[in-house]
Amino acid sequence: MSGGRLAGKVVVVTGAARGQGAAEAAALAREGARVIATDVRPTGDVRRLDVTVAEEWAALAAELRETHGMVHGLVNNAGITWRARLGDVDPADLARVHAVNVTGPLLGIRCLAPLMPPGSSVVNVGSSAALTAHYPVAYTTSKWALRGLSKTAALELGPRGIRVNTIHPGFIETEMTASADPSFREANIRETPLGRVGTVEEVTPLVVFLLSDESSFVTGAEIPVDGGLTSHGGVKSVSDTVRGEAGP
Ligand code: NAI
Repeated sequence: MSGGRLAGKVVVVTGAARGQGAAEAAALAREGARVIATDVRPTGDVRRLDVTVAEEWAALAAELRETHGMVHGLVNNAGITWRARLGDVDPADLARVHAVNVTGPLLGIRCLAPLMPPGSSVVNVGSSAALTAHYPVAYTTSKWALRGLSKTAALELGPRGIRVNTIHPGFIETEMTASADPSFREANIRETPLGRVGTVEEVTPLVVFLLSDESSFVTGAEIPVDGGLTSHGGVKSVSDTVRGEAGP
């Protein structure tokens, strides 16, 4: 595609073999971007990149410098969860989750930023867990840390014209959420004002927007895409209860 909102841009997406990353890679390509889809489990057109390994990032950067000369976008989408609670979490698991969800984006930003011209954009994929006291403590702490990294990166890279923003998906139907107990899905729906879960196609337009020049003055921002899950501070149940007593 020669036209499109991302025409001429070279964009790297991590964790792009499935789920949100695969959908983001496809949506970015539809808008004309030259997408380098990467994953620790490569498939078809998806190149191998374990985001926790600095040498693999360095190899990707060297290859991109050679082939394209520059990189205009990075979507730090790769992420893993671990659902142990506070009393059970093993510090090794905490470190493993942080390595993917925090160190990965740090390495990606550090390796690719030198190739980024002014106008480039980084999108970090946070979570509603980054805005709340979500119970899986390794995942939650990693996503809160990613918020800190995003803010610092926006500050550091702003003078070079590079934007860094964070999106916070709520419950999105992917293999990650399919691996949770069905009660987790139901409880999320109960807490979500829109009364349903979301799809990958409802996340990708935000990623396209943040990578495009349409968001040229947006940086350091955090945007939930969660059906309102994190908007009510946990008091949806109060509203629902009173409505139930008073009638609709
Ligand atoms: P998913 O589990 O379906 O896909 C994650 C992808 O990341 C997989 O292809 C996996 O191979 C890859 N990956 C894992 N470790 C990696 C590594 N070390 N290096 C490179 N790639 C690696 O998950 P989903 O749902 O698509 O999640 C995408 C992002 O969205 C994650 O950061 C996740 O934390 C976040 N998220 C997901 C939500 C959901 O409801 N599905 C909600 C909030 C945030």
